Amino acid sequence: MPRPGATGLRIKSPDLLIAESGADLNGHGLRRSMGLFQLVCFGIGAVVGTGIFVGLSDTVAQAGPAVVVSFVLAAVTCVFTAFSFAELGGAIPVSGSSYSYAYATLGERTAFLVGWCLLLEYGVSVSAVAVGWGQYLNQLLGSLTGWQLPAALANPPGDGGVVNLPAVVVVLLAALLLVRGVRESARATAAMAVLKLAVLVLFCVIGFGAFRSGNLSPFAPEGLAGITSGASVAFFSYIGFDSITTAGEEVRNPRRNVPLAILICIGVVTVLYCLVALAAIGALSSPEVAGRPAALSLIVDRVTHSDLGGAVIAFGAVVAIASVVLAVMYGQTRILMAMARDGLVPRAFARVSPRTATPVANTWIVAVVFAVPAAVVPLDMVMNLSSVGTLAVMAVVNVSVLVLRRTRPDLPRHFRVPLAPLCPLLGVAFCGYLVYGTGPATWLQFAAFLAVGAVVYSLYGRRRSRLAADADAAAAPDGAVSVPTSRPDAGTDEATRDGAAPAATTAAARAARED
Ligand code: ALA
Repeated sequence: MPRPGATGLRIKSPDLLIAESGADLNGHGLRRSMGLFQLVCFGIGAVVGTGIFVGLSDTVAQAGPAVVVSFVLAAVTCVFTAFSFAELGGAIPVSGSSYSYAYATLGERTAFLVGWCLLLEYGVSVSAVAVGWGQYLNQLLGSLTGWQLPAALANPPGDGGVVNLPAVVVVLLAALLLVRGVRESARATAAMAVLKLAVLVLFCVIGFGAFRSGNLSPFAPEGLAGITSGASVAFFSYIGFDSITTAGEEVRNPRRNVPLAILICIGVVTVLYCLVALAAIGALSSPEVAGRPAALSLIVDRVTHSDLGGAVIAFGAVVAIASVVLAVMYGQTRILMAMARDGLVPRAFARVSPRTATPVANTWIVAVVFAVPAAVVPLDMVMNLSSVGTLAVMAVVNVSVLVLRRTRPDLPRHFRVPLAPLCPLLGVAFCGYLVYGTGPATWLQFAAFLAVGAVVYSLYGRRRSRLAADADAAAAPDGAVSVPTSRPDAGTDEATRDGAAPAATTAAARAARED
């Protein structure tokens, strides 16, 4: 096997990734406390939120009654990629998700850029989702008390306000819960996931009760172009299922449970979304739904001729969207943790508190940084960018699964992508199709974002890479295992001072020597 860096790609072996997982540089590990049910709920918690509760009306605006086709197209993209995530999540069960898979297959530069795009998928979507939460909270307040937050405190500057206060509050509350420990967070997420599924099922029952087939025609007023851009908007509502793989180090029996949970989660969500979309445009004509805020509440109000039904849906949305913030923010912290272990971002992100077994500093930094766009940026500006970043990551994951099949056919895989290489290649093609649907403005924003990422990698990540430093140390003539003190980020952590090389670093040196 080539030495890391020897090929110029700096590929990190899956064995090393697994050997390093489960402990920070001081040996403080995460707890394996989640089972299959909690993991599925965690996935649903991360997925079902602003996209369906708020974004559905935007999808209808693009596609008309063909919104159902748009949701199916977005789902197909996700299903192909979910297969790839399931195989990789079982083969390399570590917290870094797509970032780690890229590191193990396509090298450090691609991995860094994947991590960079994950800031869009996780971080920016935290902001977007929090904004959606604020809308429904205000709707709920209005239904229950007749009083709403003043526009200045409920909307960002571009939308007639000054600051979106509820969005900031939900981000900070999620951080508070996350630093208390994953066990509490997983319980809270499971309860919220069950509740939001129940609310959406209730919506379907009410919507289908008022179904009028005449509402379905004309079926696709904007033709294929409308369906395509609708699919790109609908895609936002599927973002987050891969966060299941970020919990790889806190799951019991991860090789079995991670792939299974991904497939169950995407299956449940796809069926539910298609039913909700059909119920929505069957109950109310698509021009009445298109672009309306809090559309699901509106439909229920109209159908039941009372405010109560809408209030129930708004309550469900408030709970649903809060749990997305929680789960997506969790995913972001775990990705940064993996990148920090590798030296590609500052090591503060990798520190796990011995008291709570959670990355406390990491969580608060993420919360504060992403509360700012949540406070001041309008929703639609961040939604598309978040979707494109996610689609780019998903395309890389589909390629990674094919590369790993060639480079490491020996790794145990509890789940294998069917019909490879066809399914992963179709996954890449569908990702490209949805990126196309987002339009030139978003492509340009994304290209600029990627260019900044490439510069950050060259100036910081590439120079501070632990993989490269460890490989150099291991290749030194004395076979130096003094890797910890030669790392650019080597600090004064207790384990190093006491002369006990951290497990992860020892494993790195060993693996680099074996290479
Ligand atoms: N899929 C997540 C949502 O719709 C991001 O809120």
